[in-house]
Amino acid sequence: MSEALIKNFATKLIAWHGKDGRQGLPWQSIRDPYAVWVSEIMLQQTQVATVLERYPRFMKRFPTVMKLATASLDDVLAEWAGLGYYTRARNLRACSKQVMEEFGGKFPADPVLLEQLQGIGRSTAGAIAAFAFHERTPILDANVKRILARLFGIEGAIQKKSVNDALWLTAKTILPKKSEDMPVYTQALMDFGATWCTPRKPVCLSGEKKCPFAKECQANLSDQVLLLPRKVVKAKSPEFNCDMLLLRHGDSVLLQRRPDKAIWGGLWSLPESAWRAKEKNSKPSFSKSVDLTVKKLFQLVLPDEKISSVIKSCKPIERGVKIKHIFTHRRLWMQIWHVTSGDAVKFSDDDLKWIPLRQLGNYGLPQPIKLLLQGLNLARGDDLRN
Ligand code: ADE
Repeated sequence: MSEALIKNFATKLIAWHGKDGRQGLPWQSIRDPYAVWVSEIMLQQTQVATVLERYPRFMKRFPTVMKLATASLDDVLAEWAGLGYYTRARNLRACSKQVMEEFGGKFPADPVLLEQLQGIGRSTAGAIAAFAFHERTPILDANVKRILARLFGIEGAIQKKSVNDALWLTAKTILPKKSEDMPVYTQALMDFGATWCTPRKPVCLSGEKKCPFAKECQANLSDQVLLLPRKVVKAKSPEFNCDMLLLRHGDSVLLQRRPDKAIWGGLWSLPESAWRAKEKNSKPSFSKSVDLTVKKLFQLVLPDEKISSVIKSCKPIERGVKIKHIFTHRRLWMQIWHVTSGDAVKFSDDDLKWIPLRQLGNYGLPQPIKLLLQGLNLARGDDLRN
């Protein structure tokens, strides 16, 4: 490993940031640990452009850790709607409660303690400690792994524990000497990975800009930039089918709150059947519309005791659109079935509710279901975007 590179890396990277890094983002230059934490969680799986719009709104709605800890899960999920990866929203609320109960409402500065909080991994703990407390502690997200694997020519697959350990060790050795440099250094590392040392079009291969590390980067010197970091090849995620009931009565639609631990946990969605694994290369095998009666559909999607009371006043079933949604580890085809009920049958179950279309904005809905219902509402002449 090049001693000179280890010694100069932080200074050169900070100089690069002054010239070519991203400046003026609203979460840069904040030191309030609560605000730093919210921005880091939101930025994890969401584009910077989207966070620019949604972060100020979230902070206005929940300006302190106390406000977030005392909010209802429905309110937090509704504010998070459209950002995806809803576990982050549930974890935000759970973590804020932990901070109130275990740390008297103050985030700890020690990354080891931060990492014990709900939804905060080792790299995010490092980022919060560096940004909010100027701790000399590394981050190691996917972008930083790529930078280090290339710079230092680290060859093994990054999913391997031994390689991951080596990367953490490297990340530690190249930190700036002065703790006051930690925020700009950490931001620079993130920006360099996101904009210059990118997976497929790193600037060293375009010839337009000059990478400050071109002469030291092992991957560049050995023409291996696109080959590093090495990954274990992933199999395609499995595909599933399900049927979904879009039951309407007048201007209301029947929604069901999903179990907390399931995909889209805690969100309000259409009642749905069990998922059926899709055979490889086959077409989605939905229940055939010709023989799918309202009764059969209800048996697929609603608990037994609810069926008989709803079924009496329903008009025949109509096949709706088929929606594909890609989750992190699964792909799902949802067949929508439209049914109209003459009665707004009352359910004793709190998790089944008739919700007027114009009030949908008050509930956290999965994004594809929200878009589908927005379409219905627009057809009625209202716009339920909030
Ligand atoms: N991704 C995670 N944290 C980030 C940050 N602070 N700036 C830009 N992208 C990020």
